[in-house]
Amino acid sequence: MIENLEKDLEDINSLNELMEIRVKYLGKNGKITMMLKELSSFSDEETNAKGQEINTLKNQVIEKIDDLAKVLKEKELNQKLEKDKIDKSLGEFRIKTANLHPLSRMTRELEDIFRSMNYDVVFGPELELDKFNFQMLNIGIDHPARDAQDTFYVDDERLLRTQTSSVQVRTMLGKEEKTPLKMICPGKVYRRDNDDATHSHQFMQLEGLVIDEDISLADLKGTLEIMLKKLFGDSNRIRFRPSFFPFTEPSVEVDISCFKCGGEGCFLCKNTGWIEVGGSGMVHPNVLRDSGYDPNKYSGFAFGMGIERLAMFKYGINDVRQFYTNDIRFLDNFNRVEGGNK
Ligand code: DAH
Repeated sequence: MIENLEKDLEDINSLNELMEIRVKYLGKNGKITMMLKELSSFSDEETNAKGQEINTLKNQVIEKIDDLAKVLKEKELNQKLEKDKIDKSLGEFRIKTANLHPLSRMTRELEDIFRSMNYDVVFGPELELDKFNFQMLNIGIDHPARDAQDTFYVDDERLLRTQTSSVQVRTMLGKEEKTPLKMICPGKVYRRDNDDATHSHQFMQLEGLVIDEDISLADLKGTLEIMLKKLFGDSNRIRFRPSFFPFTEPSVEVDISCFKCGGEGCFLCKNTGWIEVGGSGMVHPNVLRDSGYDPNKYSGFAFGMGIERLAMFKYGINDVRQFYTNDIRFLDNFNRVEGGNK
């Protein structure tokens, strides 16, 4: 039988043909199957002996067929690969991936810088109490400083926060033991502003607060200097201008040297050589006291910066509204996928 099989297999060239041979020997009416069926006509002893013989034969048949099947499969695969040549003239296909919004990118960069200086990153609610947004920041009910920060009131007590400074109060109050603290808080704020190239009724701020013993204006300056150098490069300088905020004393406005002209004066810095990035100062004793910190023991500095502002300078964007219009052509510029993503 094996010789017959071998002969049969000699002319086989495809898996389909091989299937016919398999049926011929092992199928329902195949030679081996028939031999096994015939066993029932023998005596028990003969059945045993013959049965073993047939099974051995069967295994040999299976092995030979399987071996050839393997060879044929490989041959067919190679033929297919040979035929299906890759068409190199087809244009490449790139998968479009999502990417971070420039404001998220800027915020994360700021968070990383401050985390590296051991600051906690905290968050506060955008729907805020008048108490935290104004009163406990030394801005009483009738304080004129409220005029510059008119906002959307939900009722007499609640408003859309105008500044992330409210989170200063929340953080100080939240500390059961009035121990030193270092925190930043990025987040959205709202004001009743007319939207134009540099103003929006909603924008983002980065708040910072440090409280400890013997904190001075020099600590504030050093910290902001590190931040700005990391953001814009080592050659940048920083300067403080006297200013006024009800919750700091003294208060200063923070400028950085224009990174476009290096301080010479250009259109970006309106020929002053300096660009304003935020406000800051030493935390007012009233603010410390109201939130449970003893101003005789502790001092602190605080700052607040516009995240859009920093991002506009960093990425060379000249209209703040571009951040909010979701124009894919604009957002695609911030995709850093190797080799572009268009
Ligand atoms: N909250 C102020 C604003 O929105 C900015 C600011 C000034 C924040 C001084 C501070 C600060 O923390 O100390 O105009």
